[in-house]
Amino acid sequence: MGQIQLNQVTKSFGDVQVIPPLDLTIEDGEFTVFVGPSGCGKSTLLRLIAGLEDITSGHIAIDGKDATDVPPAKRGLAMVFQSYALYPHMSVRKNIAFPMRMAGVPEDEQKRRIEAAAKALNLTDYLDRRPGQLSGGQRQRVAIGRAIVREPAAFLFDEPLSNLDAALRVGMRLEISELHKRLATTMIYVTHDQVEAMTMADKIVVLRAGNIEQVGSPLELYHEPRNTFVAGFIGSPKMNLFDGAEAQKHGATTIGIRPEHIDVSKTEGTWKGRVGVAEHLGSDTFIHVHDTGLVDMVTVRITGDIAARHGDEIYLSPQLDKLHKFDAEGLAIR
Ligand SMILES: Nc1ncnc2c1ncn2[C@@H]1O[C@H](COP(=O)(O)OP(=O)(O)OP(=O)(O)O)[C@@H](O)[C@H]1O
Ligand SMILES: [Mg+2]
Repeated sequence: MGQIQLNQVTKSFGDVQVIPPLDLTIEDGEFTVFVGPSGCGKSTLLRLIAGLEDITSGHIAIDGKDATDVPPAKRGLAMVFQSYALYPHMSVRKNIAFPMRMAGVPEDEQKRRIEAAAKALNLTDYLDRRPGQLSGGQRQRVAIGRAIVREPAAFLFDEPLSNLDAALRVGMRLEISELHKRLATTMIYVTHDQVEAMTMADKIVVLRAGNIEQVGSPLELYHEPRNTFVAGFIGSPKMNLFDGAEAQKHGATTIGIRPEHIDVSKTEGTWKGRVGVAEHLGSDTFIHVHDTGLVDMVTVRITGDIAARHGDEIYLSPQLDKLHKFDAEGLAIR
């Protein structure tokens, strides 16, 4: 069980309200990702759920029971941070056992849970090592192991992979997704990483200045962003957004087109411009185009490689069925 409900929750630090009244329901077993710009309140929201910060007003319920005044240790939630916060002088086994010792779990039950967690996280061979004798990814797995043995109603992850190098992040991302499938426990995960958000989430919550801008599945947010903020935030490279005459042609104040929905040609097309930088990734090419008369730069994503050099003339044609239209308030026109 692990349904979490926030009802008109607010948080102020002194006079500054960082979370205006916010309602959100996270269903039991769901993998929810919080995304948003730095300082928008992701960590604060997670800490409010965990009970590490007091809410200023409103209510939090866990599995239908009011948890607003329940202390963190009694909420049945486990938090995993970016910094692993392991005890350096203790073995992996003792680090994982620590919360169970604190909670007075019987020895044989501790042993059973440690072995199960170590197996799930591929740590069996490392149980007698100290954290200093492990790689970054292994250390992060120990921190997750310590959370698993508490058998929480939900896991709260605050950018758990941001200290790892790119290859390890990919590996750990898959491991956490697999763990979620196996345990089927509610997980709330904060990340800056677009790919993590898109690939791991059942549900993404996009935050701006403590407000929820949109909640939906990754593909709902990709295909139907409800405003220009979500349109520009979800997707990498970012959606191109244009105002002015070009948007008015389509009956909108702003139009948006994703880089992957623009066709290019050397000879003809809707817009003409000049190649600025072309980024050749092998699998894809990102071309940044200037002098279109629309905006400073239009970004185009082409599958595979294409010969495009700085200064080349290039024609761009948006796929009109993929165009996003927004009104003067920045809200999607449907
Ligand atoms: N203890 C505190 N006292 C005062 N202000 C705080 C405190 N903690 C956070 N804030 C403010 O609350 C806002 C939200 O901070 P929070 O750490 O939740 O952002 P975040 O979305 O997690 O950002 P990041 O992506 O950089 O981690 C920020 O403006 C921050 O300065
Ligand atoms: Mg944060």
